[in-house]
Amino acid sequence: MSSGSQVSPAPPAKRPRVTLTKLAEKKALGEPIVMITAYDYPSAQVAEAAGVDVVLVGDSGAMTVLGYPSTVPVSIDEMLMLCSAVRRGLTTPLLVGDLPFASYEVSNEQAIRTAQRFVKEAGCDAVKLERGGSSVERARAIVEAGIPVMGHVGLTPQTATALGGYRSQGRTADRALEVARDAIELEKAGCFAIVFEAVPSAFTDTVMPELHVPVIGIGAGPSTDGQVLVFHDLLGIFDGHTARFVKRYAEIRSAMIEGVEKYAADVRGRRYPEPEHGYTMAPDEAERFKELLGAGLHAKEPFAGDWGV
Ligand code: KIV
Repeated sequence: MSSGSQVSPAPPAKRPRVTLTKLAEKKALGEPIVMITAYDYPSAQVAEAAGVDVVLVGDSGAMTVLGYPSTVPVSIDEMLMLCSAVRRGLTTPLLVGDLPFASYEVSNEQAIRTAQRFVKEAGCDAVKLERGGSSVERARAIVEAGIPVMGHVGLTPQTATALGGYRSQGRTADRALEVARDAIELEKAGCFAIVFEAVPSAFTDTVMPELHVPVIGIGAGPSTDGQVLVFHDLLGIFDGHTARFVKRYAEIRSAMIEGVEKYAADVRGRRYPEPEHGYTMAPDEAERFKELLGAGLHAKEPFAGDWGV
């Protein structure tokens, strides 16, 4: 965008805003729910134009757009900045903000305060938190404070170290039972939806009938109520390691590199800018300007020429 361009306002809604009721209806009707992450104004506009149902400002943004080695370091303020930018580009999908590591685990009060900031300062419709265990209590507290909460079980990247790394979860019966219990407890706590990440399809098939709220899968097989992928993964913008569940639908990064390489080559070869990229000046004005500038530059008195724009 050139410095002269103006940021356009969020596009007008062409379809009704996606509500929690709408998501529950979709589950009841067996209509798949489409969720994607976004981290800034242009990615939000893309999600809006593509007609997705839910946009998550994931803490995956720590890695995809902020360059951290994991999701752990990202701060509340950084997440709020990303969420606010997405809010400005989004009209229709439900906007969910991811509560970052260490922003909700300490107490119910901490969890409510952080969630309130996501709604009040960044315009999120809902928040997401990770894990079962003590997070169930935090989810309940946030829901009771009037803020919708999405749960997240299975591979929970904020606590990947404790899980033995970025590995799929629920592959043994014992671990599967733990993950299933976490999901059921989160539903009982009032979560309006739950993300299942990196769990076997057989696990999902078995647990789905036990849950009444929409389940959104990422590496959880086809039987969930919806799917989510990370924007940069599915569009091929992110250069790092991607999990096996990622399907690439475009190769934007290579297109971006190619574009910048062509630009650099044109600048170095003096092929850019061309006449059509410049502005014109009437010949008589150009002539007069030269005269004025010559007089002004060599005048002893302060130059009194007309510099008006
Ligand atoms: O941070 C994120 O992008 C997520 C999704 C993978 C669900 O939590």
